[in-house]
Amino acid sequence: MRRSRPNAILCSWARLSVLILLGCAGVSAPAAVLGDPVSDDRKASLERLLHHDCGSCHGMTLQGGLGPALLPEQFTDRDIDTIAGMILTGNPEKAMPPWEGLLSISEARYLARLIKNEGAN
Ligand code: HEC
Repeated sequence: MRRSRPNAILCSWARLSVLILLGCAGVSAPAAVLGDPVSDDRKASLERLLHHDCGSCHGMTLQGGLGPALLPEQFTDRDIDTIAGMILTGNPEKAMPPWEGLLSISEARYLARLIKNEGAN
């Protein structure tokens, strides 16, 4: 049991270095969160995706269908990152597919901006 003390110190060092590593990842997160800029070509295809693919459940004019309406007034109390998070994560219990893997964070944020500002057109 006399050796347990150095071990405990080693363990807390290990834990501390994991925290430091996570801390560093956290510091570099803003670049990853913002992601690469979305090109004009990609913006056009995301607009198509929103009305066609998302529209297959949310309605072609985003007025709602199987999924709820995706109109600006539905999202006044939610920010771009919250909506982008919903798009990327989905809700497996309610038939909302997760789009991460298909869409980058910046693309999901662009869709979120379309949903908040553009509305049904
Ligand atoms: C297979 C059908 C389906 C497709 C395709 C789909 N959704 Fe959904 N979506 C849903 C359903 C159902 C919900 C409701 C989930 C819930 O109640 O939590 C939902 C919820 C959402 C929400 C949250 C709405 C709210 O009021 O909380 C957003 C935002 C959203 N979807 C965006 C999108 C976008 C953007 C796309 C395309 C990239 C998409 N969805 C494609 C079915 C779909």
